[in-house]
Amino acid sequence: MNRTQKLEKMVHEIYDRKESTREEWADWLSANHVFLVAKFADELSIRLGVKNDLAIAAAMLHDIADSVMARENPEHENKSKEIAREFLLMCGYSDEESKIVIDDAIEYHGCKNGNLPKTVEGKIMASADARAHLQSSFYDFSLEMKTKDEPVEQVRSWALAKIERDLNNKIFFDEIRDEIREDYQRAKELILNLK
Ligand SMILES: [Fe+2]
Ligand SMILES: [Fe+2]
Repeated sequence: MNRTQKLEKMVHEIYDRKESTREEWADWLSANHVFLVAKFADELSIRLGVKNDLAIAAAMLHDIADSVMARENPEHENKSKEIAREFLLMCGYSDEESKIVIDDAIEYHGCKNGNLPKTVEGKIMASADARAHLQSSFYDFSLEMKTKDEPVEQVRSWALAKIERDLNNKIFFDEIRDEIREDYQRAKELILNLK
């Protein structure tokens, strides 16, 4: 088993524990999002001629604290980094590699308020994350989940801000942006038609 496979196994295991402190949402993410982001990060690395292992590792470890706590928990970000650091160390990644994965790719994957990843691995991971949001049922699922306990208008403005960030801030490669434009339109209509 190589280190990427070992890491993949550990990530599956922590989600599969179904910790009682996790949110139900984590089960959807582990089944439909985390490994899809890793697949897209792999594909994009190959297309760009970049070594793929750090972008894949970052993809599998982004928001890994979802496996043990709610997103809203103020400790979520730190916990994600702590788990990521432990897993990377156990799988044999060097300090320098962990820094790229944790302090750049994971830290800035949200691309909020102009805080953007600087390494190519971080840019690949953020782009893969946005592509996964737009080319899966992420928006269908999250809108359905959120409207269960939040007013429609609040959910709509959350989703509109998120989808614009996906298209305009998280995708660092124009060819990817062109390729996902139809998916973006579909998801955007879904958000606008939310009742
Ligand atoms: Fe995130
Ligand atoms: Fe994500």
